[in-house]
Amino acid sequence: MSTSFGVMLLGTGSSLPARSLRNGDFPASLDTSDEWIRSRTGIGERRIAAAGDTSASLGLAAARRALEAAQLDPADLDMIICATVTPDMMVPAAACLIQSGLGCRPIPAFDINAACTGFLYGLSIAAQFIRTGSCRRILVVGAETLSRIVDFSDRTTCVLFGDGAGAVVVGAADGQGRGEHWFRLYADGSRADYIRLNGARLRPPASSPAEPRPTDEFDFLRMNGREVFKFAVRTIIELVSESLAECNLSPADIDLVIPHQVNQRIIDAAFADLNFPTEKLMVNLDRYGNTSAASIPIALDEAMRTGRAAPGDRVLLIAFGGGLTWAGGVWTI
Ligand code: UT7
Repeated sequence: MSTSFGVMLLGTGSSLPARSLRNGDFPASLDTSDEWIRSRTGIGERRIAAAGDTSASLGLAAARRALEAAQLDPADLDMIICATVTPDMMVPAAACLIQSGLGCRPIPAFDINAACTGFLYGLSIAAQFIRTGSCRRILVVGAETLSRIVDFSDRTTCVLFGDGAGAVVVGAADGQGRGEHWFRLYADGSRADYIRLNGARLRPPASSPAEPRPTDEFDFLRMNGREVFKFAVRTIIELVSESLAECNLSPADIDLVIPHQVNQRIIDAAFADLNFPTEKLMVNLDRYGNTSAASIPIALDEAMRTGRAAPGDRVLLIAFGGGLTWAGGVWTI
C-alpha cells in the first residue's frame, strides 16, 4: 500500500430517523412475515424518515457529528461530497444543502450517484484531492431516504431498505501508518437493468414543445433480486481476494471488515468461502436494513463509537450496487 499520500479518518458521524418500522409492522396485505424477512435477509427492522426529514437534513446531522468527533469546524472543510440516489431534488445537490446548513465558505460541494457503492466512490475522490494537496480536509457523506422511492406494495423490495446517513471527515495521513489506503472502483453499465429507478420526478423528454407530457409519473425502485444476490456473493469474494492480494495481506492482517449492509445470507455465503472469522465482520443490517450509500459510513461510525474499530486499525470496505457498480478498499483508519 502507498504510505506517502494517504487519507486519514479524522471523525465519523451518523444520523438515523427515530421511527423504526419492524417486520411485524408491514400490513397483512403485503403477504410477508417476520419469519420470512429474518430468515431470507437477516433484517428485523429499518428506520423511516419523518415527514420533514430529507437526505440532506439527515446528511447534515451526520456531518455535524463527524465534525464534532474530528474536533473541527465547518470553516476547516475544503470540499463536501455527498453520495446519494435520493437527493432532496435534482438541483441543487444535497451536498450544497449540507454546505449551506453547516455555514461553510464557498467550497466545492457536489453529489455523486454510484448507488450503494457511492460512499466508496466519494472516499476515493476525496483521497485524490488530498493526495494532490489541493484539499486538506474533506467531508464525505452517504445519505439516503429510500422510503421515498420504495414501492410499499412490492414485498420483494420494500422490506429490504431503510433511511439514514453517515459521514466522515478525512484529511492527510500522519506519516505514521494511519491513512495508508488502497481503493479500487468498478462499474458495468451493461447490467443496468438489475437495479433501476426510472426517471423519478423527471418528465420524459418532449419530442415537440406542443406534446403533452404526463405530470404525475413516478416510478419506484425495481430490482432483479435473484441476479443481484448472485452478483453480490461473487463480487464480495472477488473484491476481498483482490484487495488482500494487491495489498499483500491475509485475513489475519485485517482488524474489521465493513461490507455493504445488504443481506445476511449474502454476507454469510461470501465470507464462509473466504475463511474470515465472523467476529471480524461489522453487520448492523438487522437494525437498519439496506441504506444504500449510507450503509458503510453508518456502520463505520457505529464501529468507532462502540470500540469495534479504533484509530490505527486496518479495515476492509466492500461495496456493490446499482449501475452495476462495485468497489473495495483497505484503509488504516
Ligand atoms: O444494495 C443492493 C440491493 N439489492 C438487494 O439487496 C437484493 C439482493 N437480493 C436479495 O436479497 C434476495 O434475492 C431477496 C431477499 C430480494 C429475495 O430472496 P430470495 O431468497 O432470492 O427469494 P426469491 O426472489 O427466490 O423468492 C422466493 C419466494 C418467491 O415466491 P414464489 O415465487 O416462490 O412463490 C417470492 O415471491 O419468496 C417470495 N418473496 C417473499 N415472500 C414473503 C419475495 N419477497 C418476499 C417477502 N415476503 N418479503
